[in-house]
Amino acid sequence: MTHQFVLVLDFGGQYNQLIARRVRECGVYCEVHPYSTPLEKIKEMNPIGIIFTGGPNSVYDENSPKVDPAIFEMGVPILGLCYGCQLTAQLLGGSVKSAPNKEFGKTETRFNNQSKVFGNLPESGITWMSHNDYVDAMPTGFTSVAQTDDCPVAAMENAERKIYCFQYHPEVNHTENGIKMIRNFLFEVCGAKGDWSMGDYAKTAVENIRKQVGNGKVLLALSGGVDSSVVAKLLEKAVGSQLTCIFVDHGLMRKNEGDEVEAVFAGGPVNFVRVNAGERFLAKLAGVTEPEKKRKIIGEEFIRVFEEEGKKIGKVDFLAQGTIYPDVIESGAGDAAVIKSHHNVGGLPDYVDFKEIVEPLRLLFKDEVRALGKELGLPDYLVWRQPFPGPGLAIRVIGEITEEKLSILRDADWIFRDEIAKAGLDRDINQYFAVLTNMRSVGVMGDGRTYDYTLALRGVTTTDFMTANWARIPYEVLEKASSRIINEVSGINRIVYDITSKPPATIEWE
Ligand code: XMP
Repeated sequence: MTHQFVLVLDFGGQYNQLIARRVRECGVYCEVHPYSTPLEKIKEMNPIGIIFTGGPNSVYDENSPKVDPAIFEMGVPILGLCYGCQLTAQLLGGSVKSAPNKEFGKTETRFNNQSKVFGNLPESGITWMSHNDYVDAMPTGFTSVAQTDDCPVAAMENAERKIYCFQYHPEVNHTENGIKMIRNFLFEVCGAKGDWSMGDYAKTAVENIRKQVGNGKVLLALSGGVDSSVVAKLLEKAVGSQLTCIFVDHGLMRKNEGDEVEAVFAGGPVNFVRVNAGERFLAKLAGVTEPEKKRKIIGEEFIRVFEEEGKKIGKVDFLAQGTIYPDVIESGAGDAAVIKSHHNVGGLPDYVDFKEIVEPLRLLFKDEVRALGKELGLPDYLVWRQPFPGPGLAIRVIGEITEEKLSILRDADWIFRDEIAKAGLDRDINQYFAVLTNMRSVGVMGDGRTYDYTLALRGVTTTDFMTANWARIPYEVLEKASSRIINEVSGINRIVYDITSKPPATIEWE
């Protein structure tokens, strides 16, 4: 191990990977291991600090997860969070009880900023609490360094032994200055130097892939989205020509997108197969207007195309996937190796004959994936690509899909995105696009009457895409986009901006 290392011991809480990600944000290398990791192994890892995560259990339950109390004798700084705080209190001779007033959510908290972990931070602020139990009596040698109205030990420390405990969750955004508290623990208590970066992650990921794959053949379904593109680039660096990427171009991509993906990956060393299947998809979609039916047809056809190409390649040893950590949470998979259904289309082609999955992004969050993509030298237009639905423009052309309508939409959408980028709003608005409605209306252009389509523009701000606000795009930007689209794209004579949030609307129109 060439870097300083922080060990996160996992007690089953929901924020475990988030803690790891916060440590990485501070430039410190870190890994999450199960609470049951033997002490000898922990010693071999030689951590500069250990963080105990939260967890759903009560420490006084018979089968609740525990650690060997000798861990406290190692002299390595320890930070216990929530369950980890209560466990520390119990193992060191304090007592934990069901709290008379449970605390959930944002809680006003007072801090003693003589403590190293709260140094240079305000004396009070909001913390995110989520607990039924609390520390009723601290172990000998500990003092309370934070309190709330209902919790006399919101944080405790034994500075001499370098043991710190928070009842709340510093890792979530709701805790004001939570990341600074973690940083203080790392830098002021553990002596971290911040000697790790995303470049190091890339190196380690490449080495791990080489170890896993050996001389094997790897297959990747490349969609051109951020995740699969970053996986492709990592595998390219790791195993080069052992990788085959199949890129099914269903003809429903945005303007130039297919060519952009090809430009990055074609020409070696990976075997890049682009299947131009646009006509096939359009034929299947002819006359179909119902959104779910469109999705289903596209999903099924994607699998057929992939299947045909897969057969040409024959047996592969590994299937690579761009699963990222939020997908792992969504699929409720925990640590289990679940194959994520292709997030863009129906499901994974189950005929593909392979023995193992390669998922090098499994522990990363979206913005870390982007940082890694940048580190690997992917161009901004791939790294910053916004989420794009698998069925593509098919669900942004309302009603029947024709090549003519797709072409109108591609051009209009490109202009809108161009204007958003020129206005410097492309990183602020999380998703923005045009929709070609099925409505025609009367207009006047020059001296003539027109009867053309209405185009809708949509822009949303969101963190999780489960809820979203319509983006307050400045009028001047909308005006510029509107006049350019009308002037440069024929077939559209009216443009509206969608001012519904989600809920009640969804982000896409279909
Ligand atoms: P909605 O429209 O449900 O969209 O508010 C939420 C997010 O999901 C994307 N989306 C899809 N992604 N296949 C996908 O891979 C789909 O069928 C699909 N439908 C919506 C949408 O673009 C937004 O980011």
